[in-house]
Amino acid sequence: MIRFITDKKEKQAITRAILEALPEWFEVEESREGYIRDSAEQPFFAAFEDASSTKAVGFLALKQTGAETVELAVMGVLKDHHRSGIGRKLFTAARDYAIQQGYSFMQVKTVRTGMYEDYDITNAFYKSVGFKELEVIEVLWGPENPCQIYVMNLKSMQNIIAARHSYRGAFADEKVPREDLTAIASAGMDAPSGCNKQTTSVIVVDDPKTLGKIKETLDPPVAQTAPAMIVVLTKRINAYRDRCFAVQDYSAAIENMLLAIVELGYQSCWYEGHITDEDRICDKIGEILSVPDDMDVVCLLPVGKAADEFHGPSKKSFSERVKYNTWG
Ligand SMILES: Cc1cc2nc3c(=O)[nH]c(=O)nc-3n(C[C@H](O)[C@H](O)[C@H](O)COP(=O)(O)O)c2cc1C
Repeated sequence: MIRFITDKKEKQAITRAILEALPEWFEVEESREGYIRDSAEQPFFAAFEDASSTKAVGFLALKQTGAETVELAVMGVLKDHHRSGIGRKLFTAARDYAIQQGYSFMQVKTVRTGMYEDYDITNAFYKSVGFKELEVIEVLWGPENPCQIYVMNLKSMQNIIAARHSYRGAFADEKVPREDLTAIASAGMDAPSGCNKQTTSVIVVDDPKTLGKIKETLDPPVAQTAPAMIVVLTKRINAYRDRCFAVQDYSAAIENMLLAIVELGYQSCWYEGHITDEDRICDKIGEILSVPDDMDVVCLLPVGKAADEFHGPSKKSFSERVKYNTWG
């Protein structure tokens, strides 16, 4: 399991233990001590065998290199845990964190492929998680260690999809600019709809008084600190004959909006079950917002910057749910 470590001494102790066990990559004492020293101030992820384990088997540290850019400063996994998926889990946690923090690009440097076998493994790993070759610079570490710089677009659609998780924690006390709310709502309206009937509409709520009234209806309370909310409305228009695709239409619109929310550095959660249950919170929200009788409130999406640390839930394995060509 992966943990976000904040204690400076713990970060340095983990970095030392792992790097000293990996002389093939970190034999130069000066640079190793530099990594250990710097790790104290860096966003830091450590991998443990299980929840009760206190001995880290791998770690990854990030370094901000610009307003929109972050560097995978250093990572290491104990040799007997190589090829176990730990490196990938560490990277995934760090990538999601970087996206949540609003970074657009991640870079990483290593010795280029074709020089040393151990570094070839490192290059293959970085490529396998999605890094792209940017440039090789020989003058940085000398001609015997040509420096390969890799780069990754954190805002690629694949990364945004992977980094979207339902967020149910507290939101930062920060207004969401109208231009961002408009971009999010537009993403929803750009979604496909059965026979292009466009049965989905939204009301964007950023007025504190109206937000307060909606929050009062949410029992048990959720999204109480959200600085904005998108209320999703649907109209039951048939696409053809008696076929109505309104549910599919608003689901596509909601997913588009959730992805736009993450792309812009915010978090959200698809609150539908909570408001459409027997107590019909959705109708109370409809009344507050003067929603006409031929439209239904079906979902609430809070929008804001996350104030709490969070992780996605575990999901079934890929092979359990995805097959090629036949289920057999
Ligand atoms: C149709 C639908 C209704 C949902 N309703 C709620 C809800 O009322 N409350 C809630 O906390 N999460 C709700 N969710 C979010 C799911 O619980 C969440 O997507 C799921 O646990 C997977 O987690 P992930 O979104 O982080 O991948 C809903 C999701 C969908 C698709």
